This record gives sequence, structure tokens and C-alpha cells, in this order.
Amino acid sequence: MKKKLIAGNWKMNGGLAANEALLTALNAGLDSARADVAVCVPAPYLSQVAALRGGLELGAQDLSAHEAGAYTGEVSAAMLREFGVRYVIVGHSERRQYHGETDDVVARKAQRALAAGLVPIVCVGETLEQREAGQTEQVVKRQLAAVIHLNGHCISEIVVAYEPVWAIGTGKTATPQQAQAVHAVLRAQLQAASAHADRIHLLYGGSMNAANAAELLAQTDIDGGLIGGASLKAPDFLSIVAAASALAT
Ligand code: PGA
Repeated sequence: MKKKLIAGNWKMNGGLAANEALLTALNAGLDSARADVAVCVPAPYLSQVAALRGGLELGAQDLSAHEAGAYTGEVSAAMLREFGVRYVIVGHSERRQYHGETDDVVARKAQRALAAGLVPIVCVGETLEQREAGQTEQVVKRQLAAVIHLNGHCISEIVVAYEPVWAIGTGKTATPQQAQAVHAVLRAQLQAASAHADRIHLLYGGSMNAANAAELLAQTDIDGGLIGGASLKAPDFLSIVAAASALAT
């Protein structure tokens, strides 16, 4: 079994003092981790977190679909790279929902990340309405297909996060069976596109916490987690890392 990947998504939270306290607490508890652990932080804090990251990998939460130039407010892949960023979230449902990101934009962002040597964490997931209408599979396959279409030759370099929109920040987690069923669909889609699909990390995200992580992470096709709320509290995040470590062989 490959090492699990546990990535924290701080979203628009943090501050210099709070970040330092969180990173110090995380690093004190990471010594025995047998999982890859990353924190995806707001762009202004990249240099602070790069300096204090210890055993954590550095991640960003978004990047521009453009290479450089007159795009006020945007941050490029090359800029992230200069700060030691390894992972970058693309297509988070909050960006799709509040910033109008289409499947095409998400695919182009993933392409920019890959071209700069970053690992895009591509988020896919259905809304409650889509789940209730029986469209889950169709929605996540469409979202992933756009990324595969543009990046097929290096698709095994991406990470995919299945994040049902109805589970994000709501305290409602997908059951391990619901999550595994979607992960199996995504794995099959990746296998059809690449001979190396088995090495792609498929993360689950959406109210993963210290209490439910072990059962979710034990599923065959769940290779880690993308953690929002629980990544802001060191003991909770470390418990999730411990659950992932316990599954390492
Ligand atoms: P949550 O967020 O863990 O707070 O539900 C997950 C995410 O949005 O990545």
C-alpha cells in the first residue's frame, strides 16, 4: 500500500502568530508520522510557512491559469515554485462556486501546475442536489475528464480529491462506503487514461476529522485526506495523521 497523503486546507484562515503556534505544535507531533503531510496555506503566508515547515510539505490553495502578465491579483505557478511549494489545490468547490471556475479553467490550472513541477490536487465532487438526482458519478467523471483530456500524458503526476460539496464544512461526512464507491469510479477512469494510475493518490475531503478518519482511510481506494476545519487544530490534525500512519505497511 502506498503511503497516505494528509493535506490540510487552511482556507482563508490564519495569522502570523496563529500559524507559528500551529506549525510548532504540528512539528512536535510529526516525528513518528508514516504518511506524507502537507499544509495548503493562504499565499501571503507561504514564506513564513516555508521557513517554519519542518517536516511538512508546503501547499497553496489556488494558482493562475495564465503563465505571467496583466492578471491583477493572480499568483502564478512559477511564483509558488519559488517559495518551495510542492502541492497546489485546483478546482476546490469554493472556487467553482464563488469564483465561477469551470472544468476548463480547472484543467488549465492543473496544466500550469504540472508544467512548473507542482503537484495539483484536483478537487471534484457533487452537490446534494446532484447526489439526490443520481448524478454523482456523471458529475465527478465530467470534472475529472476535463483534466485528463488536457493533461493525459502526465496524469499520473496529479492528486485527486473527492470532496462531496454537501460534506464540506457541514459536519456531514460521506460514509466510508459512499466515499469508496466514488473513489473506485475515479480510479477506473484514471486507469483507462494511464498505465500508472495506481500510484495516483485519491484523497477524500469533507468533514474528515479525528473520529472518522481511520475508517475512511482504511478503504481500498482512499489514499489520504484533504482536511479543512480539522487542519486548524493541531491535536485533531495530528490524530488524522496518526490514523494514516497506522495504516502504513
Ligand atoms: P472540511 O473542508 O474538512 O472543513 O469539510 C474540506 C475542504 O474543503 O477541503
